[in-house]
Amino acid sequence: MRAAASATAIAHPNIALVKYWGKRDDAANLPAVGSLSLTLDALATRTTVRFDSGLAADELRLDGKPDEPARRRVSRCLDLLRARAGTAAPAQVWTQNDFPTGAGLASSASGFAALVVAGAAALGLDLPADELAGIARIGSGSAPRSLHGGFAVLRNLPSGAVVCEPLLAAGAWPLRVIVAVTSPLPKEVGSRDGMRLSRETSPYYEAWVHSHPPDLAAAEEAVRRRDFPALATVAEASCLKMHAVMMATRPPLLYWTAATVAAMEAVRTLRRAGTDVFFTVDAGPQVKAVSTAAAAPAVMAALAAVPGVTRLIDSGLGHGARCIDPTQR
Ligand code: DP6
Repeated sequence: MRAAASATAIAHPNIALVKYWGKRDDAANLPAVGSLSLTLDALATRTTVRFDSGLAADELRLDGKPDEPARRRVSRCLDLLRARAGTAAPAQVWTQNDFPTGAGLASSASGFAALVVAGAAALGLDLPADELAGIARIGSGSAPRSLHGGFAVLRNLPSGAVVCEPLLAAGAWPLRVIVAVTSPLPKEVGSRDGMRLSRETSPYYEAWVHSHPPDLAAAEEAVRRRDFPALATVAEASCLKMHAVMMATRPPLLYWTAATVAAMEAVRTLRRAGTDVFFTVDAGPQVKAVSTAAAAPAVMAALAAVPGVTRLIDSGLGHGARCIDPTQR
């Protein structure tokens, strides 16, 4: 191992427009379906990984506090990096989100993307993109998408392999994402448990998996053509289909609040009036409105007027995970 075995990376959350929900292999964290996302620039996770053979075990501080379940997931990724580098040194991992953790703002995606980039750099590893993505995926299925900026697609290949590719750079189609925060609280059921429950109990799960590939193909085509109405149609359909699977799960996974529904309705009203905007909602109550840059002020104004919306975050599309100078603010 190198003498200076420390590195810091920054990564941004990504928002899926065609959703990932369900796994075909729990142990390897292989997704049952592909997904298509955009990476945000307004929110960030910053992670420092320091390997030190003098430590007794891996240590994690997430937003300043130890977190044992998260530490176990982090150690699984670090084990793969250590095996690749031929070292057994434990690591200290300091990670900080500048937004609420575990509240449907994709903190695990940015967290594991930053972790693998910083961890690999600290060990002096220059891994092929697919291998880095595979290690990030063990931590969180949506994390490989945050390795890329702009639009990314994660695909299940017929061979069983999973690949994650950049689709369009951030500047190529500068859309805005306005996040309407309705609650800063962590969700009651995390994605991992929720996905398992859906697979085991939701009567719509099989239909979700089988009807998913055409949605992914349609969204990819819409992004390549920069066809906003086509992307709006497929993204809202994918989001609502995923929530139908969630709601039909036992016990039900109902991530929406009254404010979530009101914000979705505000977006639909704007679109009916000709504004280029659509919504998407993940495993939490926040609503993400995706719009053209020209439409963003009207979207902000409409969402600010929705009762129960406590905060708006206006974001452009961000870059992929990268190492930074640790003194950089
Ligand atoms: C609803 O990537 O958090 O946000 O692989 O178990 O860590 P794990 O799940 P995670 O799930 C994300 C689910 C989603 C949809 C999406 O981002 O595609």
